[in-house]
Amino acid sequence: MKKCLILYDSYHHGNTEKIARAMAEQANAKICTIDKVPTVRTEEYEIIGFGAGIAYGRPYDKMLKAAARFSLQGKAVFVFSTSGMGKAKYNSALIELLKNAGASLVGSFACKGYDTYGPIKMVGGIAKGHPDEEDVAAAKQFIQRIVVS
Ligand SMILES: Cc1cc2nc3c(=O)[nH]c(=O)nc-3n(C[C@H](O)[C@H](O)[C@H](O)COP(=O)(O)O)c2cc1C
Repeated sequence: MKKCLILYDSYHHGNTEKIARAMAEQANAKICTIDKVPTVRTEEYEIIGFGAGIAYGRPYDKMLKAAARFSLQGKAVFVFSTSGMGKAKYNSALIELLKNAGASLVGSFACKGYDTYGPIKMVGGIAKGHPDEEDVAAAKQFIQRIVVS
């Protein structure tokens, strides 16, 4: 199994944190919020995962800004996100940025996350109950493939 570090940013409902923790458990990975990155020796890891909730169609700004500061030449990376819509294409901005930093993308994962942002709060939000058991199982399957390959 490859040595894996998972970095995440999750503030709306802890949805992305739930996925990050499930992945970390499956891969025996080190897990860390993006705020604590300066305390981690990223060069010790063979694979780094970057995960965040989505705001306005892109991974959280804090994640995009932090990811841009990494030196990732030749490093294997994967990205993941949770969002009200659960669209995989929301990961694109982060993928682009990591590739531009020289990283090699080994996977991208997205699922739904409970969303009460803005007017949809009035109707009880969307994607209630997500990430659910199936989302968690899919996330575990995703990381399993990455760390053993
Ligand atoms: C400011 C803000 C903007 C959001 N914009 C989108 C969006 O464009 N598309 C979407 O599907 N979900 C959007 N969401 C919903 C979140 O991406 C979703 O609830 C996510 O699972 C939150 O992750 P977290 O709990 O890990 O922070 C938005 C949420 C917030 C707070």
